[in-house]
Amino acid sequence: MAFNEEQFKEIISEFTIGSERLHTIAASFRQDLQLGLRDVTQSSMRMLKSYVGLPSGKETGDYLALDFGGTNIRVFRIKLDGGGKYEIIKRVGRPLIVPGEYDYICKDATAEQMFDFIAELIDEAIDGDHKTKYYLGHTFSFPSTQDNLYNARLIIWTKEFATQGVEGKVANDLLVEALKRRGADNVEPVAVLNDTVAVLLSAAYKTPNIYIGSIYATGHNTCYLEPSIHDPNGVGLGGMILNLECGNFSKLAPNRFDKEYDEGSEKPGEQRFEKMVSGRYMGELFGMAISELLGEKGKKYGLTSIDMSMIILDDSENLGKASDIIMAKVGKELEPADVKKIKELASAIVIRSARLVAASFVALVWQRAGSGKIQKQHVAVDGSVYEKMPLAKENITKALMELLGEDAGQVDTILDNGGSGLGAAIAAAMAVQK
Ligand code: BGC
Repeated sequence: MAFNEEQFKEIISEFTIGSERLHTIAASFRQDLQLGLRDVTQSSMRMLKSYVGLPSGKETGDYLALDFGGTNIRVFRIKLDGGGKYEIIKRVGRPLIVPGEYDYICKDATAEQMFDFIAELIDEAIDGDHKTKYYLGHTFSFPSTQDNLYNARLIIWTKEFATQGVEGKVANDLLVEALKRRGADNVEPVAVLNDTVAVLLSAAYKTPNIYIGSIYATGHNTCYLEPSIHDPNGVGLGGMILNLECGNFSKLAPNRFDKEYDEGSEKPGEQRFEKMVSGRYMGELFGMAISELLGEKGKKYGLTSIDMSMIILDDSENLGKASDIIMAKVGKELEPADVKKIKELASAIVIRSARLVAASFVALVWQRAGSGKIQKQHVAVDGSVYEKMPLAKENITKALMELLGEDAGQVDTILDNGGSGLGAAIAAAMAVQK
């Protein structure tokens, strides 16, 4: 069966964002940000205060870092030497879900089970040493409100997490209780931060001229250093990193696949931007479009963004690898012309994602520049989509050039690999050494 040409073209155009529309999206992102700076309830983004600014670079000492933001939990012991130098002394990690064995992120799992599992991993990182005092920085990468550096309270799970008894709770309190149950209360969580904030701290520790940090992975979000933050009573709090939670940005038009996916998702209406751009969702959109092309709308194939990346990377004449993936997941042997179209579809979804992410970066660059000149700077990004997805980084760069015009040379993106761990250690040092 050959795909219907008209239908295919229509689907590709749904996933295509031209220059003009991209400009409009960047402008509406900035407008939403400005609304939120005046009154957070007016923005579609949560714009959460982090209670931390940029590091001085003089942070030193031994810290534990917990990276809790996706299905893989990691714990590090990190020695900060100051001046951008550090050493990872120990690293342990384990997934929160092993299909068929255990699952700490499903509806049936409890907060206690989840945090006991995390405490066990922390215990492994300290080799069961229950005597030495350890300060821990906790990268907790879900939307949380806080009014100091310790007490992030989870507003709502994202990334399809559903564990009971965590929403509405202070993540570090749950961790402290679990550490106590394990007899490891010599470990003291002193700082909590979003992964975007961790990436920004980590990148700024090592490199000057960085004010924006972003995660482009299973989930998506960005933070930036806002020069003047006010509390709800209008009292100035100085410069502070703001975690935008821009995965929730909703002032852009979704296409019909975005809408349909959202309606059937764990949290309809939430994280609309994230559902258009991040790794957790691109495979879902891809599968939905393929099911239409194959005339079996509604069928789920379990396609992931990793499948998409392998399909895009297949540059062979006969697209053998891409055909194998389609055969394995979709259960059909397609004509070479259709496999080519599927590859084109995967590329269109990734390119749209990269362009939207770039538009959000430009909005922040504009906002920081105000009416002045755009400062030379790097945007620090971490995450598997940015790092590994073909077409992602190059299309961010292209879109930055398109949007920034003659200022394009002032802004680039850099990979900050592993920032979630290092940033947590830096935040712990900032909490302890202040
Ligand atoms: C969360 C953010 C996080 C992002 C990247 C989103 O789902 O809401 O807090 O920064 O994922 O991990």
